[in-house]
Amino acid sequence: MSKELIVEWTSIYKTGIDFIDVQHKRLFDEITKLKKLEQNSRETNREVYRILNFLEEYIIIHFSEEEAYMDKIGYDDIISHKSIHSNFIKEFDTLKNRLDSDGNYNPVQLFFFLIKWLQQHIAIEDQKYVNYQSIGK
Ligand SMILES: [Fe+2]
Repeated sequence: MSKELIVEWTSIYKTGIDFIDVQHKRLFDEITKLKKLEQNSRETNREVYRILNFLEEYIIIHFSEEEAYMDKIGYDDIISHKSIHSNFIKEFDTLKNRLDSDGNYNPVQLFFFLIKWLQQHIAIEDQKYVNYQSIGK
């Protein structure tokens, strides 16, 4: 990957598994909304709060459906992939709780944290089970 962050959803993030691509794109779209918000306004805080609540639920749904898929194809590294997911859920919850108690969100900082994680995860970790499935066991 180049050093420049490509922040839009592009075909390089495609796994070729339709429901997973739809969910990844939804995550991208929702996270990208953060980038467009102004800093330090009451309106922004409300919107960030809404986005984080959405992500909190959607990430859990996405991870569990992806894990069911990995299980279905018999992916041999599923345990380490699951632990990456659960570590991220913990990290996300810690971050969200801290922000909820501060009540003051920095949307751009949050955007970069989340989009970097998602891009790297899709490009590196998700690609591993995609390769496993297409190249064979
Ligand atoms: Fe994943």
